Amino acid sequence: MPLTNCEKITVNLDNDRSYDILVGGRLIEFAGKLIKPHLKRAFTVIVTDENVAKHHLADLQAAFSNQEIECEAIILPAGETSKKMATLEILLEKLLAFGVERNDVITILGGGVIGDLAGFAAAILRRGVDFVQIPTSILAQVDSSVGGKTGINSPHGKNLLGAFHQPKLVLADIDILDTLSDRHMRAGYAEIFKYALINDPEFYLWLLANGQKLIAGDKAARQYAVVKSCQAKALIVGLDEKELGIRALLNLGHTFGHALEAHCQYSERLIHGEGVAIGMVLAFEFSAFLGFNNGSDIEPIKQHLADIGLPTNIQFEGLQPLPSAAQMLEFMLQDKKTQQGEMTFILAKAVGKSFVEKNVDQQLVLNFLKGKNFK
Ligand code: GLY
Repeated sequence: MPLTNCEKITVNLDNDRSYDILVGGRLIEFAGKLIKPHLKRAFTVIVTDENVAKHHLADLQAAFSNQEIECEAIILPAGETSKKMATLEILLEKLLAFGVERNDVITILGGGVIGDLAGFAAAILRRGVDFVQIPTSILAQVDSSVGGKTGINSPHGKNLLGAFHQPKLVLADIDILDTLSDRHMRAGYAEIFKYALINDPEFYLWLLANGQKLIAGDKAARQYAVVKSCQAKALIVGLDEKELGIRALLNLGHTFGHALEAHCQYSERLIHGEGVAIGMVLAFEFSAFLGFNNGSDIEPIKQHLADIGLPTNIQFEGLQPLPSAAQMLEFMLQDKKTQQGEMTFILAKAVGKSFVEKNVDQQLVLNFLKGKNFK
């Protein structure tokens, strides 16, 4: 069967680095054909994790073999705890052992963790090799596989070691999401909702009406939301690739969310999208606390996230026992947006009206956190 209903979004960058994101069903079947034009020799190494390998590796290997592309596979442990220096070193040594040359292309098959980790390996291997992303989680399809942020965590905080390194192509196969767990589907939804809260009130209304359908597996709703999210991200990345300005908006909810993840030591107690969901509510509440909005959007946002099945406040079981306000502030100061100790937050005047606020007073952050029951 030919490839149908595939939509293309281009990330426009300088110096011939623009690339396409293809969104559609059954893309993995066509991966060999779609990736082949990017290969200088008929060889690639697939980097994936144990969970994804079980479901999708054989299909991808078959797609390469159909096109007479030789491929090796590296299968890493799944989960956020793989995003660390020790796993990066293992991965780099395996890539070198497979003889990956500077002109080769690595194929990354996985969710946000594998994408960030293997993208970073690609950025530093032989001073940079190309890669293609086949994101297998909704979170990776709508956010982490697009825009070239790669990296690993440090005990000091999330994504503190990394590089900007853009892929050559992204294949977002929405059928792959059929094997995603409910929890990860819901968590990825938080990043979709984020785009609506940043600057798209129409998409917000669409999500209020269609979000549950999307979670329940409706393919048309899924594709619409992935395309809308990738369009939103591609536009922002094309304007501000290195996050010197508006790209910071994509961090709505992340300053609080990352701190909560650090508190949970990046474990399954709180997965990234859950941290973002709670973080977005906190960002709207903090905006109201600072007088930027009247708080009227907070309840509808919380209600929708709760209807989707996401946590909306710090009573969430995985966060217990809660950190103190001072510990939260400590984690938040590790945020990459902090400059000379001055904190930057993504705040909102209303749904669809987010903005970057610099030089936020630490005492105000502490007062807000204490009011939220971080003691
Ligand atoms: N996930 C935020 C960004 O890519 O900038």
